[in-house]
Amino acid sequence: MTDAAYLLVHGDREYLLSPGEEFGTDLGVIEVPADVEAGDTVETHLGTVFEVRELRGPDLFDHLERTGAPMMPRDVGLVMGHTGVSAGDRVLDAGTGSGILSVYLGRAGAAVTTYEIDADFADVARRNTETAGVAERVDVRTGDVVDELDDLAAGEPFDVLTLDTGDAPDAVARAPDLLVSGGFLAAYSPFVEGTREIVTAARDAGLVGIEAIETIQREMDFSDRGSRPSTAGVGHTGYLVFARAP
Ligand SMILES: C[S@@+](CC[C@H](N)C(=O)[O-])C[C@H]1O[C@@H](n2cnc3c(N)ncnc32)[C@H](O)[C@@H]1O
Repeated sequence: MTDAAYLLVHGDREYLLSPGEEFGTDLGVIEVPADVEAGDTVETHLGTVFEVRELRGPDLFDHLERTGAPMMPRDVGLVMGHTGVSAGDRVLDAGTGSGILSVYLGRAGAAVTTYEIDADFADVARRNTETAGVAERVDVRTGDVVDELDDLAAGEPFDVLTLDTGDAPDAVARAPDLLVSGGFLAAYSPFVEGTREIVTAARDAGLVGIEAIETIQREMDFSDRGSRPSTAGVGHTGYLVFARAP
């Protein structure tokens, strides 16, 4: 798959399909025209009409191929809000994983260099950047980011450093060499212990404005009896550490 894909929607049915692709459903076979565009409609051979939509961030989270635990949209939102990452920013990211954070950043117009240590995961992430239509802005490199830090620090500095690996503290230690002055670090950890190591590494590296937060989100239930946070599900996803290069 090399072209950006689209979301084909009929009621609560959603299929991620590429231009020229043929796909069988119980509502009939969908043949996606090669020149399909968002806003078009496509009819199955049984006459069911699907609306063609551009893929947006949450659609990518829902439908891209996964190799592990991707960053949740709410955590992506915190990363983007706390760093203010914008079009034209240079972002260094690791590990790529499924590439969910990277494709969100790419859709926002950032130029992302992202490292994935597992070659098979990196291949999936590359396909995901193509599906998301951001392959030109998201450069997925196979390798251990820690091994590349000397070379990366010698090159053009980055505006934002995003980390989602167990060895994030090793990269945090080099953040002042990797970032422009005032550039942001955003590091995710699922555990308190990992978060403490990131905070310690950030302090030792002389980063400023260090802030660690637990990310919790509670869904709300609105019923005839009243309104309250949902009793189902777990609101915790993990921890994020933000800091800036001096
Ligand atoms: C939790 S996933 C990242 C998810 C990603 N942020 C996303 O939104 O899809 C962590 C990934 O980091 C990779 N990884 C771990 N250590 C690494 C390193 N030192 N360099 C590059 N990748 C690494 C793992 O193979 C794994 O795929």
